[in-house]
Amino acid sequence: MTYSRIIGTGSYLPEKVLTNADLEKLVDTNEDWIYSRTGIRQRRIAADDEFTCDLAERAALNAIASAGILNNQIDLILVATTTADQVFPSTACLLQHRLGIAGPPAFDVQAVCAGFLFAMDVADKFIKTGSAKCALVVGAETFSRIIDWSDRRTCVLFGDGAGAVVLKADNEPGILSTHLHCDGKYKNLLCVPVGVSKNFNQIKAGTAFTTMQGREVFRWAVTAMSDIVDETLNANGMNRDDIDWLVPHQANIRIINAVGKRAGIPPEKVVVTIDRHGNTSAASVPLAFDEAVRDGRIQSGHHVLLEGFGGGFTWGSAMVKM
Ligand code: UT7
Repeated sequence: MTYSRIIGTGSYLPEKVLTNADLEKLVDTNEDWIYSRTGIRQRRIAADDEFTCDLAERAALNAIASAGILNNQIDLILVATTTADQVFPSTACLLQHRLGIAGPPAFDVQAVCAGFLFAMDVADKFIKTGSAKCALVVGAETFSRIIDWSDRRTCVLFGDGAGAVVLKADNEPGILSTHLHCDGKYKNLLCVPVGVSKNFNQIKAGTAFTTMQGREVFRWAVTAMSDIVDETLNANGMNRDDIDWLVPHQANIRIINAVGKRAGIPPEKVVVTIDRHGNTSAASVPLAFDEAVRDGRIQSGHHVLLEGFGGGFTWGSAMVKM
């Protein structure tokens, strides 16, 4: 049996820090409201001349360096993103060229904030079936580009960044299981209701923005992210005490705390970056994961449950043995 093992992680955050105090100057909000309702103190914003592929490249190079491999050993590249540089070619294709690789498949995966879990699942299946031996999986976003900076209900929540992992074929697990779900009937609760084929004028006018019914999304996020913990544990015959680390999507500290409580996972086993990163959509899980690997919390042999939730709705998880 072939499994995928995570042999390297990396991440990158743009330099510009946007604090809650900065936001007080843009919209009718305040530090107290933002921190108490979301847990966010600051987020990073890409420079005007910095694009999703730039963030993806920095995160990828960090992951490749930590894996100790050469770029040309990579035979699959997946980029989970909602905010691709261009309509086409895909950001994964652009990234592949930046890395000096030519030939193997590279494509984007779009599942918004759950995108990294969807991309991990695809890469895992490529490796398990022998179609790839060494996959680069990136979650990268410049979400700030699809935010209405005059809408206080959304602009305080999001930030930019990228995270990446290198997966390698191995006889030992590795990724123990992945679980993906979607339900498109909730499409209007969290969306950018504009695209190339529909309402393209809004893109040209620069008004293609994220809209969200916050309270309803909140309720769904808690339920879906709690239920998928149980689903993941059951699939592996494990119980909650077997989880060394939970790395959840970073959308709101109140969601993270509610999921931890419902799933029976104590706060000291939950990786939290929301205070410094805000919600970076597809980048949030790999960013948090890389932070906890690099600071030594996540160690070899640990069982780590990664989970995401996003517009669609989409939600997914992966149980990983490090
Ligand atoms: O990544 C994908 C998943 N995304 C999520 O999971 C996000 C889920 N939703 C949330 O995290 C929360 O619903 C929010 C953080 C978006 C909002 O928190 P809330 O506690 O649900 O607040 P609310 O929307 O019920 O609004 C409460 C009040 C409202 O005022 P009134 O109507 O009670 O007078 C809002 O107008 O807070 C007001 N408000 C604000 N006040 C100051 C909304 N945004 C702000 C703001 N600053 N930025």
